[in-house]
Amino acid sequence: MDRTILKFLKAHKNTYVSGETISNALGVSRTAVWKHVKALKEAGYEIESSSRKGYRLLNEPDVLTEDELVLGMKTKWLGKTVRCFETIDSTNRYAKDHASELPHGALIVSEEQQSGRGRLGRDWTSTSGEGIWMSILLKPDIEPKDAPQITQVAAAALASTLRRICGLEALIKWPNDIVVGGKKLCGILTEMGAELGRVNHIVLGIGLNVNQSFFEPELSERATSIRLELGEAAARKPLLFALLQELEALLEPYLERKDFRPALDLCRRHSAVLGKRVKVIGRKGSKEVLAIRLNDEGALVVRDEQGDETALVSGEISIRSADGYI
Ligand code: BTN
Repeated sequence: MDRTILKFLKAHKNTYVSGETISNALGVSRTAVWKHVKALKEAGYEIESSSRKGYRLLNEPDVLTEDELVLGMKTKWLGKTVRCFETIDSTNRYAKDHASELPHGALIVSEEQQSGRGRLGRDWTSTSGEGIWMSILLKPDIEPKDAPQITQVAAAALASTLRRICGLEALIKWPNDIVVGGKKLCGILTEMGAELGRVNHIVLGIGLNVNQSFFEPELSERATSIRLELGEAAARKPLLFALLQELEALLEPYLERKDFRPALDLCRRHSAVLGKRVKVIGRKGSKEVLAIRLNDEGALVVRDEQGDETALVSGEISIRSADGYI
């Protein structure tokens, strides 16, 4: 659908504009205007039509369509190319498969994922219209060993946006989860296409639970949504725009000058694990340790019972609080 009519109606939200005004301003016929308005109404836009006064946009659906994202995006370069789907297997899979033709900063969003993927080969439940399921394609000039820092830049952007926009006490469960009240609200899956010593692309996948009002029993102990935390539904679109702005602001110093400090400061400030006894689950088994600090590279430094300190890089590690999920 041509998005100029939607743009015009949005610019005059809550006021009547005549079919003639729209048709003159945009150089389209009045019939074309009428047809577009009809299609918009069918897509969930609340538009009043009056034969005398014209059209008046009253309400917009909280949909993550290409029109909405292109018209509302407030960033400079992040998410300037968008691909939106009603349903897809996985936005990360799409981003990886199309990495060569999509530009740096491209955003892929789907209302639903049929085979959403989580870390360590797990599934990620992505019910239709209830979350923000998205992937961002980055083509950074960094070394493969530094790629985990991108996850932390994203975690920092998520925690600070969720605090600022939703008023949630969002904490970062190093390296890739956002938790609220001990339950997981959001997960990050960073995947990389690289050669020895050179990153070709990074796919930053973010799954944010927004409007689920319940989770299946096997998840309900560990998962939460913004709606469950706030007791009311949240609008996804403004949240997505704010998140992308924040992410862009933290990615810029990192990608331009390797300045990781702004993101690292937020990761330290909003950590769910620092100062806690945690269980580190790796390939060789699990171990209880004390999480002491994030070093300047973003590795989690832990101390074991013998007093030995190790710096963990995210890789194949999961963290649990000593007595449960966190
Ligand atoms: C995790 O916590 O294990 C990471 C979950 C990441 C889920 C997101 S949803 C959008 C993107 N596409 C996927 O298939 N996964 C990520």
